[in-house]
Order: sequence, then C-alpha cells, then structure tokens
Amino acid sequence: MPVLASLCRRAAIAALSATVMMPFASAQATQYADQPPLLVGAAWYPEQWPESQWEPDLERMEAAHIHLVRVGEFAWSTMEPREGEYHFEWLEKAIALAAKHHICVVLGTPTAAPPAWFTQKYPDTLRVDNDGRRDEHGNRQQFSFASTKYRELAYKISEQMAERFGKNPDVVGWQLDNELAADSFDPDAIAQWHAYLKQKYGTIDNLNRHWAAAYWSQSYNDFDQIPAHNSDENPALLLEWKHFVSETWKSYSENEIRAIRPHADKRQFITTNTMGWFDGFDSYVEHSVLDIAAWDDYISTDVLDPYDNGLRHDLTRGYKQKNFWVMETEPAFVNWRPTNNALDKGQTRDLAWQAIGHGSDAVEYWQWRAAPNGQEEYHGVLVGIDSKPVPVYDEVKQVGEEFDKAGKALAGTSPHADVALINDFDSRWAIDFQRHSAHFSPTAEMTDFYRPLRDGAQSVDVISVHAPLDSYKVVVAPALNVLPQEVGDHLLAYVKQGGNLVLGPRSGMKDEYDALSVQRQPGPLAEALGANVSQFYALDKPVPVEGDAGSGEAKVWAETIAVHSPETKVLMHYGASNGWLDGQPAVVTRHVGKGTITYIGAWLEQPLLDKLVASVLSDAGVKPLIANVPRGVEVCERSGDGKHVFILINHTQQAQQVSLPSAMHNLLGDGTVSSVELPKYGVAVLAQ
Ligand code: GAL
Repeated sequence: MPVLASLCRRAAIAALSATVMMPFASAQATQYADQPPLLVGAAWYPEQWPESQWEPDLERMEAAHIHLVRVGEFAWSTMEPREGEYHFEWLEKAIALAAKHHICVVLGTPTAAPPAWFTQKYPDTLRVDNDGRRDEHGNRQQFSFASTKYRELAYKISEQMAERFGKNPDVVGWQLDNELAADSFDPDAIAQWHAYLKQKYGTIDNLNRHWAAAYWSQSYNDFDQIPAHNSDENPALLLEWKHFVSETWKSYSENEIRAIRPHADKRQFITTNTMGWFDGFDSYVEHSVLDIAAWDDYISTDVLDPYDNGLRHDLTRGYKQKNFWVMETEPAFVNWRPTNNALDKGQTRDLAWQAIGHGSDAVEYWQWRAAPNGQEEYHGVLVGIDSKPVPVYDEVKQVGEEFDKAGKALAGTSPHADVALINDFDSRWAIDFQRHSAHFSPTAEMTDFYRPLRDGAQSVDVISVHAPLDSYKVVVAPALNVLPQEVGDHLLAYVKQGGNLVLGPRSGMKDEYDALSVQRQPGPLAEALGANVSQFYALDKPVPVEGDAGSGEAKVWAETIAVHSPETKVLMHYGASNGWLDGQPAVVTRHVGKGTITYIGAWLEQPLLDKLVASVLSDAGVKPLIANVPRGVEVCERSGDGKHVFILINHTQQAQQVSLPSAMHNLLGDGTVSSVELPKYGVAVLAQ
C-alpha cells in the first residue's frame, strides 16, 4: 500500500481533531447485549495444545468467571501452513467450544509473526533496522511495515479470517497484529519516505528552509538524497521520520481494516494493543482508524507506582476519549525484566479494579498457560503446565466474581474530568532528541504533574493538544516543547473563554518542524503571558525556589523568566544558586480574557509542585470527588445513564478508613455504608 495520501501535518491535525471531538461514549465492554458489561479474559493459544486439552481449559476458565479469550494473534503458520492453503476448522472448533462455556472471543490477525515459508519465499519483506541489518525468521515482528508484498499477504489472511468469522456472534472484536512497534529501513520504506517528504514539502527548497539544512552542509538538491534514520540525525528529520512512521502504521492498519470491515458484523470492534508510554508512533494518528483503544498494562519497574499505572490508563482512554480495554496484563509477574519479581498477593485484584476505575471495560491476563516451549516459559500464567491452577488463579477468580456482581451498575458509565493533562508526542520526541539534561524524561515530568492533579481532582483526562478543551476548568501542558501558532491560537481561545492553562518548563520553544520558534518561549503565547523565558539552565544540583504557594527546590531544569507586563504576577522566584538564576522569576501568571495562563519555568520537586498545583486547582474551583481520603487510597468515579459508581482502592499495605460524603450501596458486599474500612490492597465499589 502506498503511504497515506493526506500527508500534510495540518490535514492530519484536522482529521485528528475531528476524531477526538467525539463525545465520551457511554460504554460497556462489547456491543453484544448478551455479553457481560465488564469482562475478565485471558490470552489463549489452542494451536499450542492437543484438542483434548481445550475443553478442560475452558471449564477451568468458566469456573474462574473468565468471560473472554483472545485467540489467534501468533497462529499464522497454523492458519496458513503453505501459501494460499487456509485452515480454520481448528479455530472454528475452539471458538464454538469457548462459546459453550459462555466465553466470547477477540480474534487477533496473525501478522505479527509471519511463517517460515513466507520469509523464505519473500525475503524482501523482512525489516531492515536503523543500522542496515536485515531481520530473520525465529522471533516475531520481523516484517517491514511498509512492504507492499507483506501487506498483500496480510490483507489476504485477514480477509480469509473475516469471511469465516465476521458474522460469528461469539467473536466480539478484532485485534490487528500485536503491539505495532518496529520501523524499517528497507528499500520499500525508504521510497515511501521520499514520496512522503515530496508530498508534504512540495519543493526541496521548502524542506531545506524548514530544516535549516545549510547547517553542516545538509542542503539537498533532491528528495531522494535524504537519509532515513531514527537516531543520530538532524532533529527536523527525526521528527518527520516519526510522522512518517505514524502514517505508515496507520496505513498498515487500514490495510487490514479494509480486509475485515466489509465482512464483519457492525458490532465487532477493531482495535490494536498499544503499550503505555511506547512512543514509536503518534497514537492519536493510529487511533483515528480504530474503533476502541486497548493497551497492554505491564509494570515495568520493581515497585508498582499506582500514579504511573493510572496515568497510562488515562493516556489510553484519551486516544478515543472513551472507555478502553486492557488487552493484556500480567498475572503477578512477567519474564522480560532484569528481576521478574511478583506483585504482592492482592495487588493483581487491586490493579484490575484500578483499570475499571480509569475507564477500562475488560481486563485480560497474558496468558492462560505457558507454551510447552519457546521464549516465554517463565512468564506469569493462570494455570501451570499440568493444567492445574497456580496461586494467582484464585485472585483472578475473585476479580471475575466481582466483575459479575458490579457489572450491571457500571454498564454505560465512564470517568469524567474537570482537569486535562496534555500528552503531545511531537513535544516528547523533540525533547528526547535533544534532552540537554539526560535526566529530563518527558514522561517522568508529566507523571510529576499528574500526581497532584490526580490527588486534587481524583479524575484527570489525558488528551491531545488538538482536542476540544472547553469543558475543562484546568488544562496542564507539562512540557509543550513544540507549540506551533495554530496550537497557540487554540490554547489562547480556551483561556479567553475562561480556561486556566498551566504550561510547564520547555514549553513553546519549537515550531512544527522542530525549528526554534522566532519568539522566545512560550513562543506564540509569550505576548498573552506578558513574559518570556530569557534563558534555560540544565541543573546538576537542586536550586532553591520560593513564593506565596510555598518554598522548596527545582531540579533538573530551570528557566529565568523576563516579565514585560505589569499585569503578569510573579508567583515564585529562585533563591541564590549559580548567579544567573538568583532572584529571577521562576513561575508567573496572568489573567487573560476570562481565564489565566500560568508558566512554570522549572521542574519543581514533588512537594512544591504539589502545593502549586493544589493552589491552581483551588483557584479554579476544582474539588476532589471525596474529600479527606487517606494517602495511598485512590478514588475513581464512573458515571452515566443516571448512575454514579465510586471505586476506592487502597494501594498501601496498611488498612485505611474512608468516610463517604453520603450513604452508598456496597456493591461487593451488602447493604448501605457511610464509611468503608479498606484492608491492605482492599477495594470497595460503591453506588450512590
Ligand atoms: C506482550 C506481548 C505478548 C507477550 C507479553 C509478555 O508485550 O504482546 O505476546 O509477549 O508481552 O509480557
């Protein structure tokens, strides 16, 4: 398939705005009225086991209240053992058996793992990495996402599956491929890259100008001269490569969607499973062609941080601005970290309810049982190689029972928020290309802003900067490094009509080509702010900061701010440090129209940032859903269809008591309560 026709960034943004303008849909997990509103599922690989094993597996799943299996996403060599020879009888049988046990199915297209005959016959479809090395058979994802031949055969297998299962009432949805990730530098991809650039820039002079290509004698005479790389290059090229990759994954997905949609029941959704912070492509672009968002929720550090996990749920919810799925999560542990320690007993259930609280309607465990051999023999599972439950099975069973109990009350409900946090891929990429301080991780900085927002508002939408903003009292853009004029206009319109905009450090430095903005930070918003950044400093040690909202330290990054308007108020300034920063404004704010713009020029240490954000929320009239909740207890609310359901999760190891603002119905227990006692990792689900 050729790369998308609409390559102009502006057009992409317009299309994106159109998709994100969809209201938060009231939701339940599937569009099938006979399926439960909340689903627990498992990744199941019948192709790895003798048929005699299938029914005992499904019986055990049913006993654990598992409602769903995802099947097929790596089974290409079983579905099509030789080119054009399709075998789906086994899959049809497996789906029918699952249905017999009241288990519905998500079908994965198997294109993340092409068979050996494919690689042998079409070696040109193999991906080429950034260093020019061709991949080979034996792992997965060894294909080029731009290969015309690959897409041709991916289309065929997807179409065959859709013809066979598109009207099957037990198939509730489709997962395209699996964890779209690796870009490729094969000749097909490079030819499409050059065509993309030509279509976007029109003339080579235009490209040379936006990329400032005279620098280091990079000026090009022809589009075909332009290198293709994803690191160690001109950042303008790197940013454009990311845009190209985003469009290429989108057209890769559209290829399979075109094969499936004409044969699929309208109620079957089409999605793919994304990966939290993974930033290989712009997820807003990818999701513009998908029905729902879904992600694979794995804890990637030794210690579970509920804020980081909650933020990644909210990020995923923001891709379609509606409820989503957790397509994979760990049954207590994974196999790919340096030390694969297990979640504590109780934390698997804690996390399942956190997913629901943040707007997921399904939680699927990867995987039901380990394959008898292969790369993932040590990964967490629900049953052992002997088909008997492992210890975490009972905890998942409890989750299944509880989803069944509370499902009806949660059907048609979603989270709603007064506060939005901006996630901007261009800005994250631009900072990562030139961090200036190795410690400036855009996602870590975003998480620091999220913590006080989550504590103060107990509900946060994470959205694209192009999304409509009017419904939010406060919008926080933690490090909106790339801030073109049209985005500036969009943000200013929000402020003028009464919104409160908070910009974090490094905001407003670049245009959409990653070129330095002609105005100093925050670029197109500097005039409205009545101030601009006069200099930025990477910090090797903390710097004191003080002001009315409190005192403390800045770390990693500090900018001095020059104030130009008497209406601009300095909220914080630096104490004595390197001389340049001493006494200079660090945080400023100004009333503009009916709203305010606040610019925070430093990465404030957490306690100070907490205080500052708390004061912004309080000035904007944002209140927590339930006040005076003990630290470590997370409050989530889902509402819709006239219902209000609270999910309270104690992420700590100590018992905690929460007083409720009114008497509520205890959905996991009995009767009505006006306060709840949450044991270690305890959960309460309460209907108002
Ligand atoms: C995911 C992948 C699964 C499995 C899992 C293990 O990234 O989609 O197939 O490999 O990781 O944690």
